[in-house]
Amino acid sequence: MRWKWKGYLPYQFMVVIFLLLYGWQESVDESFVNLEMCPACYGQSLCGAMLKKQNSDVDNFLLRGYSQWKIMKFFNIKNVYFASFHEKLVVMKKLAHDSELQEFDEVLCKASRHSLNCNVSLALKTLLSEAGDDILQVISRHPELFEKSDATKCAHNRTILELFKKYSVIDYGPYHRHHFLTMLAVNMEPLMMMTYHSKWFPAIHGTCGRIIVEEYVGPTLTHLAGEPWHIRADYARQLLEMAGELSDGEFRLYLTDVSMDNFAVDEQGRVKIIDAENLVIVDSLQDNLDSSEHVNDGFGCKDCLSFSYEDLCSHRSSDHNFFAVCKGMLSSTSFSEDIPEGLLHSPPDWVMLEHTSIFNLIEECAAHPLDPYNYSKPKRREAAAALHSLLLAVTSSNQLRI
Ligand SMILES: Nc1ncnc2c1ncn2[C@@H]1O[C@H](COP(=O)(O)OP(=O)(O)O)[C@@H](O)[C@H]1O
Ligand SMILES: [Mg+2]
Repeated sequence: MRWKWKGYLPYQFMVVIFLLLYGWQESVDESFVNLEMCPACYGQSLCGAMLKKQNSDVDNFLLRGYSQWKIMKFFNIKNVYFASFHEKLVVMKKLAHDSELQEFDEVLCKASRHSLNCNVSLALKTLLSEAGDDILQVISRHPELFEKSDATKCAHNRTILELFKKYSVIDYGPYHRHHFLTMLAVNMEPLMMMTYHSKWFPAIHGTCGRIIVEEYVGPTLTHLAGEPWHIRADYARQLLEMAGELSDGEFRLYLTDVSMDNFAVDEQGRVKIIDAENLVIVDSLQDNLDSSEHVNDGFGCKDCLSFSYEDLCSHRSSDHNFFAVCKGMLSSTSFSEDIPEGLLHSPPDWVMLEHTSIFNLIEECAAHPLDPYNYSKPKRREAAAALHSLLLAVTSSNQLRI
């Protein structure tokens, strides 16, 4: 077959023009991190180490893989970059797509009654000074800015104050409120990672402009779908522990985006949440919460994780995380598009012969009220506890038969 170059010529021409205009290699500089947006940015703690000084050959941050090519910007809509920092692998995130950041800037300008393409740093300074530097006042006066943030969904003020308290430990500069509010509105991931259950999240190294730098954990569960069964069984065990620990404690955290791409495994085999944007935070000490256990009713959606903010926010406890993990990732009819047969697919014969109850328990924990055979109220918490014990036993070394 002969190639038809003619049709490709306009694209090749565009690529050449792009390269001539912008160059090949991405460099971590002030414009890359959008430093001009500060203090309507995520902070500046890493700017000293991150930004290449003029006339200096030292590059502390080296972009890795596709991240180092400028042209990949067109494909990297998630704005996630991989880099090394002092020989450690790190992930640099802008925390939102370019269009989402632009939308935030526009809402900020509007809220501060500035013109459409206003100076966002001035706009945020205006909002804070009008609210007497009170972050809760800014949030209640301008809900439109925080509309997309799961952090404010329950309107439990103590959850916000807790995030702010933890953030203030590492950023006590004059603009720490501005940085905090920007992250809270755009994507609360770094705030979550700094505040709760450090065991289940990657470490945050710092921020510069509209970039945050976090620990590179490792491959995601999607990439690990072909690992031996007993290894995947250990990931499942950890996911159940995670579901339990996040559902306990003073502040309950509910996972609302359980795609396998949002969990990664580090070199020690530890599972971590790498996308912490979608977590509902409930203050369990809030007055007037319903003390009965909330059972997720999968309302209106058989093939995806549905939930109601109102239900989660009004109950002291919920089985939501067990449902999310079991139905979202472990069940043989999981919601996952990448591994629809579930993380524990293809068990070896000896597991099928000796431990069939594992699979019954997964389906009990994943019970969906819209399944035709489910007549009674699911007992997901109990099923998850029994499943956890079995997985622990099966994966413990003396029982392993690989
Ligand atoms: N800390 C991390 N360690 C390893 N890989 C990561 C990390 N953070 C993100 N990634 C990779 O980047 C992808 C997108 O990141 P994510 O934060 O989930 O963005 P989005 O919110 O747009 O989904 C992830 O699915 C994963 O492949
Ligand atoms: Mg994600």
